Amino acid sequence: MIITFAHYKGGTGKTTSCLSIAGYLAKSGKKILVVDLDPQGNATSGLGIDKRTLVNSMYRVMKNKKTKIKDIILKTNIRNLHLAPADHTLDMINLRSYKKKSDATHLKDALKNIKDYYDYILIDTPPVHSHFIINGMVAADSVILVLDPGIFALEGVKVLKDSFGNFLAKLGLDLNIEMALVTKTQGFSLFRKNQAKEIQKETEKLLEKNVFLIPYSNYIYGTHAKGVPISHYQPWSKAGRAYKKIVKEILLNEKIRMKLDKKIGTFDKQGKIPLRK
Ligand SMILES: Nc1ncnc2c1ncn2[C@@H]1O[C@H](COP(=O)(O)OP(=O)(O)O)[C@@H](O)[C@H]1O
Ligand SMILES: [Mg+2]
Repeated sequence: MIITFAHYKGGTGKTTSCLSIAGYLAKSGKKILVVDLDPQGNATSGLGIDKRTLVNSMYRVMKNKKTKIKDIILKTNIRNLHLAPADHTLDMINLRSYKKKSDATHLKDALKNIKDYYDYILIDTPPVHSHFIINGMVAADSVILVLDPGIFALEGVKVLKDSFGNFLAKLGLDLNIEMALVTKTQGFSLFRKNQAKEIQKETEKLLEKNVFLIPYSNYIYGTHAKGVPISHYQPWSKAGRAYKKIVKEILLNEKIRMKLDKKIGTFDKQGKIPLRK
C-alpha cells in the first residue's frame, strides 16, 4: 500500500505526519519504507540520518530511470522502518512538464520492484515542486491531505481535489483520498480549537472521508531534534495518541480492503456476484 502525504502549501505538517504514522505502523510490526521526495530532506533528518553523509539519494532515482531504488534505501534506527533519503540535490531535477505520461509515472515505475517487500510505503512530498507532488500522487494508492487549521484550509482542499483530480483523470487514474488531517490544533486558544473543529466538520462533508485533528505539541520539536518519530519519543503525548488513532484507522481500512479484495476474488473465480452472508 502506497500512501502520499500532500498539500501544495509548506508547513502544514506533512513531514511530521508522514514520520509519526510511519513510526506507529513500524511499531505495529508492519514493514515500512519512507520515501523522501522533498529537496529539503526533512524526512531524512527527521529519521536521524545526517544528510551530509548521503552517498546516494532520491536524486539518482528521479534523475535516471536505470537506478534501482533498492540501491539507495537505508536502514534507520527504528525497527521495520527504512528510508529512501533526499537532500538538496533533488532540486537539480527538472522533470519535463508532463509531455509524456512517463514523466508523471517516474516514481510509480521506480517503486514497482520493491512494492511487495513493504507493507506500507509512505511518500513525503514538498509544497511547491509540483512535479514531485504529481509523481507522489500518481505513485500512491491513496493520499492523505495534511491541512493546517488556518481559515484557508478548506480552499486548499477544494483546489487539491479539483486540480489533482483532473490531472490524474487525464492519466486515467483516480484521486483516492484516504483521509485528511488538521494539524497543530489546540494549545493556542479556544478560538483555534473551535476553528479546527469547524474545518474538520466541513472537510468531512466535502470529502466524505474521516478527518482527524492533531493537537499542537511541544514534543514535536523534540522528535525532529532527536531524529525519531513521536511513536518512539513521547508516544503517550496528546499528539502521539492522536497519530496512534490515525494508524488504527489506516490498519482498519486495510482490513476492509483485504476483505473486499477476497470477495472480488470470489467473483472473478466463480464468475458470479458474491452473496452477502
Ligand atoms: N502537532 C504539532 N505540534 C507542534 N508543532 C508541529 C506539529 N506538527 C508540525 N509541527 C511543526 O510545524 C512545522 C512544519 O511541520 P512540517 O511537518 O515540517 O510541515 P511540512 O512538511 O508540511 O512543511 C515544523 O516546525 C514542525 O515541527
Ligand atoms: Mg515537509
